[in-house]
Amino acid sequence: MLTLDATADSAEALEEQGRLLARALPPFAVVVLIGELGAGKTTLMKGVAEGWEVASADEVTSPTYTLIHEYQRGGRRLLHLDLYRIETGAQLETLGLDDVLRPPESGERKLVAIEWGERVEDQLPRPYVRLEITPTGGGIRHLRSSWVR
Ligand SMILES: Nc1ncnc2c1ncn2[C@@H]1O[C@H](COP(=O)(O)OP(=O)(O)OP(=O)(O)O)[C@@H](O)[C@H]1O
Ligand SMILES: [Mg+2]
Repeated sequence: MLTLDATADSAEALEEQGRLLARALPPFAVVVLIGELGAGKTTLMKGVAEGWEVASADEVTSPTYTLIHEYQRGGRRLLHLDLYRIETGAQLETLGLDDVLRPPESGERKLVAIEWGERVEDQLPRPYVRLEITPTGGGIRHLRSSWVR
């Protein structure tokens, strides 16, 4: 994956960046989505699900209350997490992060994308992708990604 440094001037443009990102990722990847409330993390994930070929954009909704949404098609899996409401280590235990982060069987593809994932950064396998979405005013979002090793 090339390092991403882009702007998106609409939700549709942000979705498109998500598609491009997903298509450029290796068969197993963990992506941490960083950005304030309403930055566009879930919007980006709609495109990611399409680029990973597991769901259409309108099938992707925020896992705010359920903490995790899983999409699967053929040997491809997408786990979309939102840890905003996680408050205790016990809640994380219930979520089973170890399982979520386990590499896929050979021949399968697994993408784990975590909104507010900076909260569990020390538990993530290296390398992972850190993607920051920054609203810069006027409906514009700036996107930057890098591998954390
Ligand atoms: N350029 C843009 N790109 C993406 N979303 C935009 C843009 N301009 C405005 N928006 C709006 O911003 C909102 C982004 O919401 P979204 O749920 O994707 O954010 P989020 O980062 O997932 O928030 P949360 O932390 O609450 O989960 C949407 O309502 C969207 O229509
Ligand atoms: Mg969200």
